[in-house]
Amino acid sequence: MSKYVLVTGGAGYIGSHTVLALTAKGYTPVIVDDFRNANEVVLNGLSTILGFEPILHRVDICDPSAMRAIFQSYVFHGVIHFAAYKAVGESVQKPLMYYQNNLAGLVNILSLMEEFKVLNFVFSSSCTVYGEPKETKEVHEETPKSLPESPYGYTKWIGEQIISDFFKSAPEFHLMNLRYFNPVGAHPSAKIGEFPIGKPNNLLPFVTQTAIGKQDCLTVFGDDYPTRDGSCVRDYIHVMDLAEAHVQAIQFLEKQENGCLEAVNIGTGTGTTVLEVIRVFEKITNQKLNYRIGPRREGDVIEIYANAVKSNTLLSWKATRTIEDAVRDAWNWELALNQQA
Ligand code: UFG
Repeated sequence: MSKYVLVTGGAGYIGSHTVLALTAKGYTPVIVDDFRNANEVVLNGLSTILGFEPILHRVDICDPSAMRAIFQSYVFHGVIHFAAYKAVGESVQKPLMYYQNNLAGLVNILSLMEEFKVLNFVFSSSCTVYGEPKETKEVHEETPKSLPESPYGYTKWIGEQIISDFFKSAPEFHLMNLRYFNPVGAHPSAKIGEFPIGKPNNLLPFVTQTAIGKQDCLTVFGDDYPTRDGSCVRDYIHVMDLAEAHVQAIQFLEKQENGCLEAVNIGTGTGTTVLEVIRVFEKITNQKLNYRIGPRREGDVIEIYANAVKSNTLLSWKATRTIEDAVRDAWNWELALNQQA
């Protein structure tokens, strides 16, 4: 019998890679995506890699009747909930749109899981729930959460709270918040990857778009921070490692006899500065990147990276790909996109 796993936002960046990782482990992903923030190129790439067309419903997760019809059509083994807006700056401009989609969508999915008794649930959370780390820059799951800097951050923070309150009312559920650090890279085939709509907000797509000529120049947001070279430090995690963490999470949840609620960091455990990312890119591609040092970006955390012990002990997962792998795969994806254009 097929083990159907509902993947909301399954045509998006992390979702599409997770569809591959689930399929590789014998699950049958059922994608729900309305393509407001996904691209047909990725869907075609997914089909090429898989050798068949994945199951897809073009539905808005906030549409209760359309979503109920999907829950009626499959016996879901679990749900991985990616579908959400994710641009920090945009969330400041359009907070209601963020709260509506990210929180109403989550409540709708949890309500249907309760109604249809689908027990296993993985939520896309973020290290943004930690805010700026106070004592050590390496955060573990018990590090107290801070109030977020943006409505986007609040949707993850409140999302975790909604899940926690739901668990108190329904302790038989198996729930997991995966707190992602900075996802980067692409599938090594270069058939799927990140597809920023408009000007990229994130570092690596901006680097690759600058190198290919879609952007004129990368601005490094500040080089006067108290870090080893003055630029901010992040924990960059290869998207394929991140995708595989979701499969491990589902495998952990399905083994539980009793209900549970866990939060798990998904990062490498190593911090890399913005300038180091640029150096890696220049080395891997053997070219100089056009960049300049600019002012600090408002709301940026100075330095944060994961304590990755719990992901290893609880999920038997750890990152196996390097930042060099991620930069090479992101660059190959940019080159492939450019050829299609
Ligand atoms: N950066 C630049 N220039 C750019 C873009 C980014 O210097 O053009 C720098 C940023 O200042 C930061 C680093 O690159 O120091 C990483 O920035 P990203 O925008 O790629 O990532 P963030 O760490 O700011 O944000 C990411 C996710 C958010 C999430 C946050 C949690 O994009 O969704 O991590 O900390 F909320």
